[in-house]
Amino acid sequence: MNIDHLLQAAKDAGQHRARPLASNFKVGAALEFTNGAILSGGNTEDRGKTVVGACAERNVLAAANNQMGPLSEYGIGGTVGWRRAAVWANTPGPITPCGICRDYMAATAVSPGAEVLSQCEGPSRSGFTIGELLPLAGRGPGGDVKEEIESWRLSGGRITQLPSSASDYLIARAMGAAGRSYRPPFSNEPISGAALLTENGQMHEGFLVIDATTRLGGTAISMAVRNALVGPVENTSRVVAVGLFTYGDVLRAPTGCDLQLLQEIRSKHGDVDVMFGCNTCAYKTTLDALLPHPFGRNDLGY
Ligand code: THU
Repeated sequence: MNIDHLLQAAKDAGQHRARPLASNFKVGAALEFTNGAILSGGNTEDRGKTVVGACAERNVLAAANNQMGPLSEYGIGGTVGWRRAAVWANTPGPITPCGICRDYMAATAVSPGAEVLSQCEGPSRSGFTIGELLPLAGRGPGGDVKEEIESWRLSGGRITQLPSSASDYLIARAMGAAGRSYRPPFSNEPISGAALLTENGQMHEGFLVIDATTRLGGTAISMAVRNALVGPVENTSRVVAVGLFTYGDVLRAPTGCDLQLLQEIRSKHGDVDVMFGCNTCAYKTTLDALLPHPFGRNDLGY
């Protein structure tokens, strides 16, 4: 399939099938799958219950899973994965998928080299691979990122190894918080904690909470963000640094979902330091490196 056809399918979906009842922000996505199928769709929002909605990209992946799936995981198993994606939005500049979509797209792409192209109402286009948009997606066993860190470094990724998790104050605080994690017995999610430093010098902790539906809890970082939102975010709660600790030998990086949440409450100026570690190793990088070309406030104009 010609790339212009894929871009046109994304535009048609955005213009005619998007349901942006809250934001009025129309997005369409079209994905090409390994069996040759093209599926497209728009974003869906409810007017009053904004958390119920979903992005165009995830709507298409959900439809693909249910029409042709199950979708493969990091190119393995399942019946199909996607190999090319096009996105369209009624914005002046091209947008990129949000962190949640990057998580889901990275997990269901045929490879990290799968392309994501974007068009908008203006003339400019953008194009990235899903690997560029989410360099530490957790392709290793149990979500381990050690191998991805090595290949990311070779391609210029800015990340440094720390002597140990205990050598970083925020990771050490996160380690303490991790012990309070709650999860049902069926969950294999490793227990984890987070510590978040805000602009006013305050520290906020969070820990993993999973419920039986696996929907209503939160990751350690998302819980720390909730704890940080003690006043208007503009005055008190802009995040400047975050530490994540995961129990065991598997090294986990913050998910795309967590990075998107941090992006929302970062300061308008300056990057966010991101440290993460497990029992055997620890690393330091930044939000701009982990979530390049972020979707969010710049695109929506606030
Ligand atoms: N949105 C998408 O559908 N795709 C993206 O890549 C970015 C954001 C949607 C979600 C929400 O309905 C609206 O755009 C505003 O964020």
